[in-house]
Amino acid sequence: MKLNYNVDVVIVGAGLAGMYTALKINPDFEVLLLSKEAVDENNSSLAQGGIAACVKSDDSFKLHIEDTLEAGSNMNDIDKLEQLVKCAPNNIEELIALGVEFDREDNGSIKSTMEGGHSRRRVLHAGGDATGREIVKALSIQVKNRSNITVLEDIMALDLILNDSKCVGITALKDSKILNIYSNDTVIATGGIGEIYNNSTNSTIATGDGIAMAYRGGCEINNMEFIQFHPTAFYSKDKGKKFLISEAVRGEGAVLRNKSGERFMEKYHPSKDLAPRDIVSQCIYKEMEKSNTDHVYLDITHRDKEYLENRFPTIYNQCLANGIDMSKDLIPVLPVQHYSIGGIKVDMVGRTNIPSLYACGECSNTGVHGANRLASNSLLECIVFGKKISNDINKNLECFEQAKLSDKDTLVKNQYNVQSNTDIDIYKVKKEIKETMEKYVGIVRWESGLLNAKKKIEGLSEKLKSCLESERACQEAKNMITIALLIINACLDRKESIGCHFRIDKNNGEQI
Ligand code: FAD
Ligand code: SIN
Repeated sequence: MKLNYNVDVVIVGAGLAGMYTALKINPDFEVLLLSKEAVDENNSSLAQGGIAACVKSDDSFKLHIEDTLEAGSNMNDIDKLEQLVKCAPNNIEELIALGVEFDREDNGSIKSTMEGGHSRRRVLHAGGDATGREIVKALSIQVKNRSNITVLEDIMALDLILNDSKCVGITALKDSKILNIYSNDTVIATGGIGEIYNNSTNSTIATGDGIAMAYRGGCEINNMEFIQFHPTAFYSKDKGKKFLISEAVRGEGAVLRNKSGERFMEKYHPSKDLAPRDIVSQCIYKEMEKSNTDHVYLDITHRDKEYLENRFPTIYNQCLANGIDMSKDLIPVLPVQHYSIGGIKVDMVGRTNIPSLYACGECSNTGVHGANRLASNSLLECIVFGKKISNDINKNLECFEQAKLSDKDTLVKNQYNVQSNTDIDIYKVKKEIKETMEKYVGIVRWESGLLNAKKKIEGLSEKLKSCLESERACQEAKNMITIALLIINACLDRKESIGCHFRIDKNNGEQI
């Protein structure tokens, strides 16, 4: 294994954001694509519902923008949102050209479905409910065939390497060794933060590494209080990763019922079960509190087995494996952490405030989602901004003489503790982070709870000071602490309730 690399572009993260960006870089340039585990272990592979794009004749850019603004409580960055929506159809065409096979009607037109907050059926899907798996499969084949892209799996990026405030690469951990990867341009595409919660739909790789390393390097991080909770994860008593029951199931007619079997969303919102996600999750929370239970039910029993097996093959089989036949039984569901809206602040073309450093996908904060993401706009954000980033990098690399760096250059050295070891139980530290976040920084937040959480997390941070930094678990736990504190502080700063951020203490005790 090489100890150091020197490439044109290093992309940290091989989900949709990382892979699509890599594929759009001019093939004359050398790209290194890093993945903490195998390339199909990420949130992109788990995506179910689909990807939002205005491609149907009854839809318009204006409607897609309006729906996104309404879901986001009008906190969205309007210029970036317009770019997101208007660049969607072309990027969908490019995905198709890269081999992604969206589900189609008998006449060949692309099928589309409905999800919460959408006023039109504009969510395109693949493999029924396996949109992410199909996209990742197609893009992985393209990446393998591209001689300018080298993929390194089982490698963990640690920190930015900075030279005169410019990003000139990253340090990374591979087989307990720390290596330097120098690059002209660096893209962080490390995905979400779900691992810091007890219950999440996310892949276990989602420890917020990219946001934490960018923060340490001096990047602006914002909107971290906006953690999206998906209303319908499959209920189980054990803590940890939860299987998602896609919002598209409600898009195809499923309704929510409380413990007594009553529909309740009509009490709260005119769009009922298809209201934006923040509202549905908060209403479920309220129903659970009222009836002193830890879940509600999703009912799609009006659809027959054959339809469900075809339309939602993954979900149908997963429910069956857990003793639930969706065509006959109510599905027990609960809201769990799902998506990080905040992250590394970027401009229209994905640039951070550090020269030569970009961020893309869930780890970035483009501002398109406002205070609550409209369903299926996330995969779209990965490709629209991935394309913008690669265009910018292509221009830079074509215009400027490439100044590759090596160990000999004067760089800000990152110091790692690779010697001393203590008996710190990292697993226990991670568990305590998750429990604290779940208890105090969940769907509802209140000042004393947030202060409690802050104290607990700061205490855990102290414990980790002397842990062995050539171990992945130690680095992840440190990053999880950084992310938890960024979220808690942002929650404390935002006093009002808006979007996914619900401050129960600022609502006169009223929950919703
Ligand atoms: P990811 O796909 O998570 O990829 C992150 C990559 O970074 C991985 O390769 C990982 O190994 C790597 N990485 C992380 N840390 C490091 C490190 N330190 N060093 C090296 N590599 C690192 N959105 C939609 O729009 N539509 C949907 O239908 C949809 N369904 C979803 C269903 C589920 C269950 C989940 C969890 C999410 C869903 N989302 C959906 C959200 C969407 O899937 C994600 O926001 C999006 O895929 C994020 O892509 P990404 O490339 O930014 O991150
Ligand atoms: C889902 O299928 O419900 C997830 C969609 C999303 O997160 O955008």
